Amino acid sequence: MGNLWARKPLAQLQAEASDSDHGLRRALGPGALVALGVGAIIGAGLFVRTAAAAAYAAGPSVTLGFVVAAVGCAFAGLCYAELSSTIPIAGSAYTYSYATMGELVAWIIGWDLVLEYAIGAATVSIAWSEYLNKLLGLLGRGIPYAYCHSPFQVDEATGVHGIVNLPALAILLALTLLLIRGMRESAMVNALIVILKVTIVVLIIALGWGFIRAENHVPYIPAPTTFTDAQGVDHAYGGLRGIIGAAGIVFFAFIGFDAVSTAAQEAKNPKRDMPIGILGSLVVCTVLYILFAHVLTGLAPVAFFRTTGKEASVAKAIDAFMPGYAWLSNSVTVAILGGFSSVILVMLMGQSRVFYSMAKDGLVPTVFSDVHPRFRTPYKSNWLFFGFTGLFAAFVPEDIVGDMTSIGTLFAFILVCLGVWVMRVKEPQLKRQFRVPAVPVVSTLGVLVCGAMIFGLGWTNWTRLGVWLAIGLVVYFTYGRRHSRLGQSAG
Ligand code: ALA
Repeated sequence: MGNLWARKPLAQLQAEASDSDHGLRRALGPGALVALGVGAIIGAGLFVRTAAAAAYAAGPSVTLGFVVAAVGCAFAGLCYAELSSTIPIAGSAYTYSYATMGELVAWIIGWDLVLEYAIGAATVSIAWSEYLNKLLGLLGRGIPYAYCHSPFQVDEATGVHGIVNLPALAILLALTLLLIRGMRESAMVNALIVILKVTIVVLIIALGWGFIRAENHVPYIPAPTTFTDAQGVDHAYGGLRGIIGAAGIVFFAFIGFDAVSTAAQEAKNPKRDMPIGILGSLVVCTVLYILFAHVLTGLAPVAFFRTTGKEASVAKAIDAFMPGYAWLSNSVTVAILGGFSSVILVMLMGQSRVFYSMAKDGLVPTVFSDVHPRFRTPYKSNWLFFGFTGLFAAFVPEDIVGDMTSIGTLFAFILVCLGVWVMRVKEPQLKRQFRVPAVPVVSTLGVLVCGAMIFGLGWTNWTRLGVWLAIGLVVYFTYGRRHSRLGQSAG
């Protein structure tokens, strides 16, 4: 049986990384990695959750929420860059913690990453379904409310209940099939979508700037108060608490830069290209986000995002407040369907790669590390997560899965920041291609800023995270610990 604190030897990890004959195919260069990052980053966070954060937490000061979230991500991103350039192997934070903090912590983080990647993919597939409906509306059609919403949602206008979110399920299936076909093909589709997505964001900023109404930005930071939404849920709105709350919500928009690190084993030159991929994609997105949020909250008053503009918020704000730009709203709707697809693709990819690594280590059944004989992708993991993600996408509302994704990811970031520090202490001699400056100051700041955002997400989300981790511990002690390869080889 495994020792809870057993660490996977770095030499073994590095040997696995260079075993490219049997493992995953090394197909990605630096440009493809930045594209992979941007592909995973710009999505529902920007196009759905910016409006939600403005409506329920911070009003126009959602831009400051983006700044706080970006600072937290920058600290964590530096730590990810150091670890992924030192241990360039599939599995991301899971693999790093196996080498630095031992098997139990690695398990916790691998389990937690399911919240980030699988539940994250479910969240974006639900947003995809919202914008698909907007598109079908343009064509004079629409999917009946019941078949594109979860059973926990009710149409306030008609009283109709949701049953199942079928479009969300359909997009997950299509992308699972694409992923099984292989990385190179998926990366190519991704690159095209990234170009489209960035173009749309830049267009909205440039064209929307002239429609900003100064009065929508006054007061920029609303006075602190409590806002109760239509479901009767209270939100801390305005003031510093509102900004921290908004940071926790829009943090979702940054998730994905770390997914680059899950593809380390498929990078051509991971030691140099991993930091470029991770930090490069983060910088590009931060600049775009702050400008975008400034424009969006300048176009429409907050009340709009609580009512008419609640779903497909960006397209609806353009329709209502940028007369003559229907073409832009329509292009947003079409482009974003592609844009969300690339996010889901990278998230599903990240999830299957983490699970592939856990299966290779024996912590979950080893069948999930089987690689497809022709495509060389971990197809059994892909299928498993289609099923799992599909359940959430079909039956749970977007804001619940969105917040679960954010809190799970923030927790993973905290462990990664700690991991860098632990590794500096335990393996000071190890050659690091990229070094985080001023450790432990930067890693501690990363823990503090991410911790503040976890605080901002409130007790309902803390409980969800706690329950998910508790289930994970039961699985570890009943299965993972007994089957761990490392534990078995240690006798
Ligand atoms: N950052 C990704 C998005 O916003 C997850 O959709």
